[in-house]
This record gives sequence, structure tokens and C-alpha cells, in this order.
Amino acid sequence: MESHLEKQNGDVLQKSFKEMISTLPKKSCWGLPEDQYQYQSFWFSPPFLQGALSAQQQFQAQPTDIILCSFPRTGTAWLKSLTFATITRTSYNDSTTPLLSKMPHDVVPYMEFDHAQISINRHLGIPLLATHLPYSFLPRSIIDSGCKLIYICRDPKDTFVSLYHFIARHCNSRNTQPIQLDEAFELFYEGISSYGPYWDHVLGYWKASLERPDKLMFLKYEDLVEDTVLYLKKTAEFMGYPFSSEEQQQGVPENIVKMCSFDNLSGLEVNKTGRHREGKGNVETENNIFFRKGKVGDWKNYLTTEMAQRLDQRTLQQLSSSGLSL
Ligand code: A3P
Repeated sequence: MESHLEKQNGDVLQKSFKEMISTLPKKSCWGLPEDQYQYQSFWFSPPFLQGALSAQQQFQAQPTDIILCSFPRTGTAWLKSLTFATITRTSYNDSTTPLLSKMPHDVVPYMEFDHAQISINRHLGIPLLATHLPYSFLPRSIIDSGCKLIYICRDPKDTFVSLYHFIARHCNSRNTQPIQLDEAFELFYEGISSYGPYWDHVLGYWKASLERPDKLMFLKYEDLVEDTVLYLKKTAEFMGYPFSSEEQQQGVPENIVKMCSFDNLSGLEVNKTGRHREGKGNVETENNIFFRKGKVGDWKNYLTTEMAQRLDQRTLQQLSSSGLSL
């Protein structure tokens, strides 16, 4: 338990982070109630930046940790559920898994917000945690400990459309006016969104995955949709929890994929009516906001041809000579 002195030191630290954040360039955008702040070329909502700075100072990675990394709206909850179900498959079955009663973000905590939950999960022997932080923001102990990271990314057009809907829903639930899609598009294009610029986020992890392929696995949402079982098996292998041939014969990977499918998870009562971060102010949300369509190419229903071409062009420019295509 936290001592009085530790609490006092923690409060002093949080105060100094707040003061530092208040000096950064900021922008009121996306119709969000709070300004976005730019720090080391990335944009953040204040509580997330505070969490990031705190994690950089205090988070101690264990060599056995497996950290799921992503830009928001690129398939984080799905990756959380697939990896959680894989790692806990000998402790739980289809009818006892915590995924039936908790939403994926509540079973795999975020490194930069859910400190208490991380200790509980570690105590239970579940090595998974997640982060939206850019690679260059990861606490030093993550790199030094040699723990494993899995990054998931997604077509920027679908990422943008998903993000736009997420924020519009968030604004509606707070009775604030969401911005128009074309206005949000320009912001995303310019890299101004929480944890953006998107391309810099992806490139940081892409380059690290080339340098340390044994430690960083790089996934694309579209590949996962195309052949979920294949990529689940690769992920299990990478994490050090491979499916045995007996398990494969019994269809264990297929069962996990079915349990974590969009249709199944989005239909669960907890994900239809539950709430995430209840009582935590602006970061509180309804669970169902995390499950929209789960499709590849939904951008076609929202972006004009010109918008799509502009974003594709931007992606080509940004990723040029990286060897990565999105
Ligand atoms: P859409 O808004 O395009 O539907 P994140 O978890 O990183 O916030 O990503 C959210 C996106 O993943 C949303 O995309 C959401 O619907 C989709 N998603 C959530 N659960 C999913 C699942 N089990 N399978 C596929 N996609 C899923």
C-alpha cells in the first residue's frame, strides 16, 4: 500500500507535470472540452500526457511483460481480447473468461493510466498491458527489460473515420457540439489528434520492429481481419504461448477467434450497456463506443474521392523509403 510519504511525493510530481504541461503549445480542436497539448512533436489530451510523464518516471517493466501498443482506433480492444484469451486459455474456458463480464480495456490495463490494475494483473500472472504512447515516449525500463511489444496499425483512412465517430459520440454524451467531418479531416491530415501525427506514431514502431524483430511484432488490422486464425497463431508464438498441435487439432485458436469476434464481443451485455472509467470525469465513456462496425474500408461511406486521395498521398509521402505501406 502507498505510504503517506509516497503519496506526498506523487502529488508533488503530478503538480510539476501539470505546471510543465501548462507551458506547452496548445490547441482547442475536435470539439473536445479540453485543449490538446503538443509535446515532443506529438499531441495529447492533458490527462493522457500527465499519465505518460508519470509512466516515464515510475513504470518498471518486467522482462516477462507483453505490451500491446497502438494509436487509438486501430484495433486495440480486439488485440487485447485475442491476446488475453490466448494467455489465459488454461485458466478459463469459453464460459468463465473475464471477457464475458468485463470489456477488453478493463482486462488489459493501460500502462499510463491504470497503475493499480497493473499490479493486480501482475499478481494474477497476466503479463499483458497496453499503451497508446509513441515509441519514443516509452519508459526506458521497457527497452532495458527486453520485454515484448506488439504494435497494431490500420489504414489511416479507416483510422480517421473510426476516430471521428468515437470523438463525435464522446462529444454528444457530454452535450458538446462535435465538429464537422471535413474539419476533423484537416486536423488529422495535419497530424493534430490525440497521440498524432498518426504516421509518426506508426513509423516509430515500424522502425523499432525492423531493428528488434524478436522483441517487437508489427501487425496490421487488415491482415488480422483477412486471416485472424493465422495471425493469432503467429501472435501466440511471438508471445511465448504457442498453440500445441493437440490444441490446434481441437480448434482452440478458432474458438478464441470466435469468442473475440466483433459480433460476439459487441453483443455481450457488458459491452452494450457497461461504462469504462466510471467516475473519472472527461475520460469516462460508455463501453459500446469502442465497438462501431469493425470493418475494413468503411471510409468509403464517409470520405470523398478527393479526401481519400489526399490522405493516401500523405501516407505515401510520410512512409516513403520506410518499406511500409498502409
Ligand atoms: P470501427 O470504428 O471502424 O468500427 P480501438 O480498440 O483501438 O479503439 O479500435 C476501435 C476499432 O476496432 C473500431 O473500428 C471498432 O469497431 C473495432 N473493433 C472493436 N472490437 C473489434 C473486434 N472484436 N473485431 C474487429 N474490430 C473490432
